[in-house]
Amino acid sequence: MHAAPRRRVSPLSAADAVQGFRGLSYRFRLESFLLQLSTAFLKAPIDDLERSVEVWLRRLAQFMGIDRCSFWEVAANGSRITCQSYYSAPGMGPPESELLRHRFPWLTRQYRRGVPIVWSRVPEQIPACATPEREHALQIGAKSVLSIPLSSGSSIWVLALVSTRRYCAWTDATVQRMTLVGEIFASAMLRQRAEISLRLSQWQLREGEERFRGAFDHAAIGMALVSPEGHWLKVNRALTLILGYSEEELLETTFQAISHPEDLSQNLDYLRRALAGELDHYELEKRYIHKDGHTIFALLSVSLVKDAWGRPLYFVSQIHDLSERTRTQLEIDQLRLELTHSSRVALMGQLTGSLAHELLQPVTAMSANAEAALSFLAAGESDSAGMLACLNDIVESCGRAAQVIQRVNSLLRKERRARRRIDLNQLVREVARVVHSDLMTRRVRLTLQLHAHLPEIMGDAVELQQVILNLLVNGAEAVSHASCKNRDLLISTLTREQEVELCVRDRGTGADPADLERMFEPFFSTKPNGMGLGLPICSEIARAHGGRLWAENNPDAGLTVHVSLPTAG
Ligand SMILES: Nc1ncnc2c1ncn2[C@@H]1O[C@H](COP(=O)(O)OP(=O)(O)O)[C@@H](O)[C@H]1O
Ligand SMILES: [Mg+2]
Repeated sequence: MHAAPRRRVSPLSAADAVQGFRGLSYRFRLESFLLQLSTAFLKAPIDDLERSVEVWLRRLAQFMGIDRCSFWEVAANGSRITCQSYYSAPGMGPPESELLRHRFPWLTRQYRRGVPIVWSRVPEQIPACATPEREHALQIGAKSVLSIPLSSGSSIWVLALVSTRRYCAWTDATVQRMTLVGEIFASAMLRQRAEISLRLSQWQLREGEERFRGAFDHAAIGMALVSPEGHWLKVNRALTLILGYSEEELLETTFQAISHPEDLSQNLDYLRRALAGELDHYELEKRYIHKDGHTIFALLSVSLVKDAWGRPLYFVSQIHDLSERTRTQLEIDQLRLELTHSSRVALMGQLTGSLAHELLQPVTAMSANAEAALSFLAAGESDSAGMLACLNDIVESCGRAAQVIQRVNSLLRKERRARRRIDLNQLVREVARVVHSDLMTRRVRLTLQLHAHLPEIMGDAVELQQVILNLLVNGAEAVSHASCKNRDLLISTLTREQEVELCVRDRGTGADPADLERMFEPFFSTKPNGMGLGLPICSEIARAHGGRLWAENNPDAGLTVHVSLPTAG
């Protein structure tokens, strides 16, 4: 039978698709960056916070491709704006340590009103009344400036971004995301202050002082004193805002009553251990139910205060609202799903010709058998054995066709799938079947060398198939040059300590050593119609499975791409 002519049908052929991918990929990277940042700050030790802020200002500058990021505090009376922390790229000096109101009245006013400064082009966009500000911006060589005031508790903080080498088009979305970054820094600073005053006041409380009240009431995070039985004894305003209940309402209830039922037993277990003297302090992520019914994700940190005889008096609880972080995490998950799905659709588009061919075989067989059966009937023969054979063949061909469709369908579906135990060898065999005709058309020979006792891994079968499929298509493309004589591909699986490894080896052109790492970056492609998204998505999938991906040139010819994944254990 003739192979169907191979068609290159790309459902995402237009420039819009690339644009769409680019936008999605940028958002994806930005959201991942934000998630890393917020996670880092959640866990950052209070005593080392200044250094963490410095480190993340540098990362932010590098991520945004700008020259200076700084974080400032506006004095309560507005008289000065003091630099708390900064990063300046090499060649750019430090910012001034403070800006005085009488020198920059316009700027101070904007900050105190909570108005961000968004200048994509300096000096064109600087208002005429802001003369000293314009001079200052020109003096530091700024081309674009973005600075965002954040009021948190009774303080105003400012996150400032300066670019001197290029103009930056600050979009609303960027301003919104940078506001979030500023809020993370500001809330960490407040947390540090609250913690320091809490430590101080806990000590003072023991001394019988009343100053605890001030720190407690004005802390920016939720705080409460809770009885050993779980009754709220005292709650601050921040906590009432997080949970949606008034102070009076909370004092009439217990933490058990507004905890998420699924998280309660773990919390009670900690409480019991603290009361039994096994722990003085514990921390857990848990959910509360807001008064209006929605779920609040929170980080709970609890210390037990005891009397002079060591008997439990009450718990001091700090409740940090994680909803924003959780929302970002969900958004990233969604983006990841979209991105991997779109690229899977594009990949399947490339294989349409080969799949049509795969489907044609059983369909042709079915129609031949149906015709034979019809001719039996027409001739009035009562050859029931012949009829039965025809019908059995038809049933079998139907089964084969259904399998082809099912394989394609499962790859095209976009949905969240639960992780399950997977035999990687089995996935390799299934993918090999999907690309079978495509490889035949290209005259590529695929050999499988699968480890006989490969441990199982935990994962998402469709995503891992996508990785194998991508690597196979890349390998096939690498050996499909007219000049390539050795059109061999080898997939092998092997096991290492706690890991399994999949290698896809080709005898193609190999890669320039400088490209061995770059090929995993989004949009890097050396192919005329390449999207450059295959490998970065494979890396992302491997990373999400706790594994990694790398490439090596073979000593003789071609390239091997390795994927290592942790075993299910
Ligand atoms: N097997 C291979 N041999 C040589 N180069 C490869 C191979 N696989 C990938 N590459 C290089 O990595 C680049 C990126 O691959 P990929 O992310 O799949 O995007 P695309 O295939 O759309 O170019 C390719 O353009 C090619 O330069
Ligand atoms: Mg590719």
